[in-house]
Amino acid sequence: MFDPTEKLKEFVRFPSVSADPKYKAGMRGAQEFASGLLRSVGFGVEVVPTELHPIILAQRPGDPSWPHVIIYGHYDVQPPDPLDLWKTPAFEPSVRGDRLYGRGSSDNKGPLLTNIAAVAGLFEANPALPLRVTFLIEGEEEMGSPSFPAFLDQYQGRLREADFVFLSDTQLPSEDQVVITCGLRGLALFDIHVTGPGQDLHSGAHGGVVKNPIQALAEICASLHGPDGRVNVPGFYDGVVDPAPWERAELRKFAGDEKAYAAFLGVDTFCTEAGFSPFEAIRFRPTLEFNGIGGGYQGDGSKTVIPSRAFAKISCRLVPNQQPAEIKRLVQAAIRSRVPPGVRVDFVEQHQGMPYGVVPPGHPNTPPGQSPVLARAFRAVDEVVTEVWGRPPLYLREGGSVPIIAEIKRATGLDSVMFGLSMPEDNLHAPNESYNLNVMRRGIVTIAKILAAVAARPPVTA
Ligand code: BES
Ligand code: MN
Repeated sequence: MFDPTEKLKEFVRFPSVSADPKYKAGMRGAQEFASGLLRSVGFGVEVVPTELHPIILAQRPGDPSWPHVIIYGHYDVQPPDPLDLWKTPAFEPSVRGDRLYGRGSSDNKGPLLTNIAAVAGLFEANPALPLRVTFLIEGEEEMGSPSFPAFLDQYQGRLREADFVFLSDTQLPSEDQVVITCGLRGLALFDIHVTGPGQDLHSGAHGGVVKNPIQALAEICASLHGPDGRVNVPGFYDGVVDPAPWERAELRKFAGDEKAYAAFLGVDTFCTEAGFSPFEAIRFRPTLEFNGIGGGYQGDGSKTVIPSRAFAKISCRLVPNQQPAEIKRLVQAAIRSRVPPGVRVDFVEQHQGMPYGVVPPGHPNTPPGQSPVLARAFRAVDEVVTEVWGRPPLYLREGGSVPIIAEIKRATGLDSVMFGLSMPEDNLHAPNESYNLNVMRRGIVTIAKILAAVAARPPVTA
């Protein structure tokens, strides 16, 4: 078996930023690295071209009667900026203490490599293990997976033959507590552009006679939340269903420390929707956030100008039962009804993704027709995690989004078992991203044992 830490260093060295065309070579390098690694451990690898970044489909064939798991991951990463805040360069992996630093080390190259190492070790020890495994690794996750729907249209017949999807692209709250993610928030993103005068104006020569677009934008943005922290858009919460009682009970077991969390965030008070604790808000509630705002003069010193235009980038995180298209419609309608005289508003659509939920076996709201292999996988996860980590996993929804998980469900009917391996202190999407190598080692053992337990007839040593 390969040395997972060394392989992860190689993987991180490829600067695979999907969103920025200048990283094309890094994208290709990361794709070829992952394909080559899978080939070297006995997988048949197909590199499926898309309009942008290819999708890797790697199969270990077997008898059609064997259970079949699709393991999902992504080889693309977020942009590394701001570069000057990295202690060591983003694409020069560096091990310090128990951590491997580098962009993508935790999102998602480390967790993906953990899965590949688990599978490679498992089949090395048990070449005849009656389990079919397909790796499905995309290169556009960090930009909203624009090529994925077309890929699914083409491959859904083949993917539908599998029993469930397994992935590590979510989080565990601490080194000794595994969380199986049972829900992902959806996303609805768009930009708002406010246009006032036909061109930038001298703020003295014309000040006091026109509506300033920045002021109009600020009024609109400020209107979108109420003093109770709720999103002030008629209909926004209409589809939201309360979490099931077992989900609330599970969250109560989660020993989140609010003071420590506030200190971690660097804030002295939370600003949470009334009636919800911060941990409930993240996992159960939708949001509307401003991700960027601009307009007017941004340089040094000052400039006395009334700008012609201003913009903001808005994203909503959605919970199960909210439809991204409907939410955009509602928010944009609310904005239109609040546009002050003297400016015009236009919207630029960005991507969107459906929220996702899965109910493990044994709960009052478990779907009656749940796949027996999926149920077996959930039970195996519970047993193996309890054995290896000394305590059972918690079953919680996550605040983040992996929109293709709902897409896969829609196109193939397959549900996902989400075994998170990144941690809050891993700095996902931020400078000095890192991956905890203890979590990697334990993850490899755990995932190998889970897959062994899912296999058809297990005369197996994991
Ligand atoms: N791995 C993350 C999703 C994630 C983050 C899950 C934190 C749980 C906690 C994933 O790569 C990601 O960042 N997704 C994006 C969505 C995408 C469409 C840009 C996100 O959640 O913002
Ligand atoms: Mn990410």
